[in-house]
Amino acid sequence: MSKKKAMNKSKLWGGRFTEATDAFVERFTASVNFDRRLFQQDIDGSVAHARMLAKARILTTNELQQILDGLEAIRQDILDDKFAWSVTLEDVHMNIESALTARIGEVGKKLHTGRSRNDQVATDIRLYVREEIDQIAALLTKVQLALVSVAEAEADTIMPGFTHLQTAQPVSFGHHIMAWYEMLDRDYGRLMDCRKRVNLSPLGAAALAGTSYPIDRDFTAEQLGFDGSSRNSLDAVSDRDFSIELASCASILMMHLSRFSEELVLWTSAQFNFIELPDRFCTGSSIMPQKKNPDVPELIRGKTGRVYGQLISLLTLMKSQPLAYNKDNQEDKEPLFDLVDTVKDCLYAYSEMMPAINCKKEVMYAAAKQGYATATDLADYLVKKGMPFRDAHEVVGKSVAFGIEQKKDLAELTLEELKSFSALIEDDIFQVLTLEGSINARDHIGGTAPRQVLAAVQAAKNALSAR
Ligand code: ARG
Repeated sequence: MSKKKAMNKSKLWGGRFTEATDAFVERFTASVNFDRRLFQQDIDGSVAHARMLAKARILTTNELQQILDGLEAIRQDILDDKFAWSVTLEDVHMNIESALTARIGEVGKKLHTGRSRNDQVATDIRLYVREEIDQIAALLTKVQLALVSVAEAEADTIMPGFTHLQTAQPVSFGHHIMAWYEMLDRDYGRLMDCRKRVNLSPLGAAALAGTSYPIDRDFTAEQLGFDGSSRNSLDAVSDRDFSIELASCASILMMHLSRFSEELVLWTSAQFNFIELPDRFCTGSSIMPQKKNPDVPELIRGKTGRVYGQLISLLTLMKSQPLAYNKDNQEDKEPLFDLVDTVKDCLYAYSEMMPAINCKKEVMYAAAKQGYATATDLADYLVKKGMPFRDAHEVVGKSVAFGIEQKKDLAELTLEELKSFSALIEDDIFQVLTLEGSINARDHIGGTAPRQVLAAVQAAKNALSAR
């Protein structure tokens, strides 16, 4: 054997090579530094595959036992930080397989029968994505529960509702919080939908065309908790739609969190002063002693861009790839890991931050009283007394202009002053012009009346406890 050939003996695929891998290429093509994170999934997949091989009589019971013991010992070594990862062995799959052979001898070399790293890695990522979807969903539920509690406590707290960030109409703060709940509820639904397409087993697709061994794909799928097996081997090894779907779900979710965060940033400012975040979730300034900065919401807002970026990375990675597996696919892991970590951190932050917000009811109430938030109510009042809506709009517009001039809210104008705009206005107008009157009047499904908010809270509680 030539010296050059001997140099490639450490590679599991070294058979046809006559020259050692270039050191740069070895580093450039290796993924072990990041894909070792998949060791649990990789071992689980190998366990299921080995059991299937034994069931198909490709391995003896004794060989299976040796392989299973070996794999579990390796799992323990990795958990104990005693495993020597090697870049020369390229990726998590070959590191583990080679450690298995080192540990149990020749039998270890039989594990890869009827399998390829292509279906192996696809299986690992699907198992990983499934697990992470479940963790993200659990965190989402935690945040939703926190929101429901705030909404229940603040159902009759009144704040100004905004359009164009200008005071529009008074709303219940609980109602506002339940709007966030709804966004997260759609996120949850999207994740569950995505999970269905994730949960299919690619094992058995082998390199791309399937395998000539008498394998039992249903058996492996079942062992790994998959709902079934992929239907086309070429698609199975090359498909990364499920990661892109998770990244899409995560991006929409982050878009929602960035919207909440923006509101928290605004609301904690001296100008709004609607809420206070707990000290433990804020930081100070090194130069301005008075500052208490909402860094956590700001960072969440910022990290949204990072998650969108990972979605675009994955989409671009898959763009134009011919069938079937290409090494490009190795680039799927870092964006995926990063976006999953980011989303989980952000949801965790919300689950801790929301129950601890201090809501300043009086400030919100006072703010709702400014900005003529009940102007629509006055218009509606006139319409109910027979005036066409467009005319009512005009009348109220004039009353508001008068109020601005007098520096008075509509409810602070005298009956006489109000009557000068329309003879239809009577004594009963003052009830209508109060903030309470305004929100209580919106008493229909999806409206801001506290009664409706509490009904929405109850429905949400029921839905969450049924998960
Ligand atoms: N490390 C590879 C990846 O992440 C595993 C599959 C490699 N397959 C191959 N034919 N080179 O995609």
